[in-house]
Amino acid sequence: MPKQWKTKLIHSDVEVPEGYRSLTTPVYRGSTSLFADAAAVTDAWDQYEAGYTYGLYGTPTTLELAGRICELEQGYRTIITPGGQCAISLINLALLKSGDHILVPESIYGPNRKLANDILRRFGAQVTYYQPTIGSDIASLIQPNTRLVWCESPGSITMEIQDVPAIAEAAHRAGALVVMDNTWSAGVYFDAFTHGVDVTMQALTKYVGGHSDLLLGSVTVKDKTIYQQLGATQQLLGCAASPDDCSLALRGMKTLAVRLEAIGQSAFTIARWLAERPEVERVLHPALESCPGHELWQRDFTGATGVFAFVFRRDVTKAQVTEFVDALKLFKVGYSWGGVTSLAVAYDFSYYKGRPGYQHRIVRLNIGLEATDDLIADLENAMVV
Ligand SMILES: Cc1ncc(COP(=O)(O)O)c(C=O)c1O
Repeated sequence: MPKQWKTKLIHSDVEVPEGYRSLTTPVYRGSTSLFADAAAVTDAWDQYEAGYTYGLYGTPTTLELAGRICELEQGYRTIITPGGQCAISLINLALLKSGDHILVPESIYGPNRKLANDILRRFGAQVTYYQPTIGSDIASLIQPNTRLVWCESPGSITMEIQDVPAIAEAAHRAGALVVMDNTWSAGVYFDAFTHGVDVTMQALTKYVGGHSDLLLGSVTVKDKTIYQQLGATQQLLGCAASPDDCSLALRGMKTLAVRLEAIGQSAFTIARWLAERPEVERVLHPALESCPGHELWQRDFTGATGVFAFVFRRDVTKAQVTEFVDALKLFKVGYSWGGVTSLAVAYDFSYYKGRPGYQHRIVRLNIGLEATDDLIADLENAMVV
């Protein structure tokens, strides 16, 4: 059939040679995925079962990233989401119903807590917060309707390491699932499934992306039934990850090992330097004894990444902490972490019940890839107290 030029713009006859063998996964963008014929049309979301049906459920780029995260975490399947917080929402919305009870550590990532307070409670879920260092005593908080026990280890900002195996044992005895935010370990320094976790999530935004230029999340499961629940819910929530961002994350993964090693070493050197400073009361780095749960980190983790916190002496005022952060030149002030740029953020826990009494004196650092000595010099120059 002859084609006019306008039709050729859409249905071209151009052919390019086949057989290009790139080292990188192509970026497959797309909403529409073509079916072989009318009879093949289906809206099934599981592309491993049904073949490709719609871009929302993942293009080959998205599924390549999902497969690689799954391989690292040694799960059954991974679902990629448009951000870490979306992974958290997907888990809760897929696995909970009205009347269910969830247990959440006081040290959980702030927006995870806010989701539980503001949305899960609105839909009739019961939420109880527990001390992250509770260990097997969590059994006393488990109710007949407890469905999920969240863990995050180390905890956000205050860095408590949790006894995940003990928590998992108590949860499983009562028929509850254990869900873990495994972002800090980048899914590699803590083998969540071996330690009893049922569902993990990561903000790939952090170490996997690694360059502060994307937002992505992952949910990994070891069980087919849970995967079906998550996949079916993702379809209805419509949270599709961008294949361009997945491509960046795939690139980030290639250098993850060297970045983690360099960042981890630098962070530990800086943590030990801070621990000797007269202005500092305590350093909350899992590889130091001063971090709550340090012995659990030694038992369960195979490494440490580059985010940790420190607490100024008791006489240091809020204004002095702010002055310190503002005096830093190499450390920038900003949320998120896991990139190559060092960051510093001061927090104030004075009005938070259930968090340790560090008040306004706690500062969280993200260590990047700058020279360690330069970062130490920057911290030293900023020590205004
Ligand atoms: C521990 C943790 N989990 C989840 C998230 C959310 O990730 P995202 O920013 O990709 O939504 C963050 C972000 O800071 C985080 O620190």
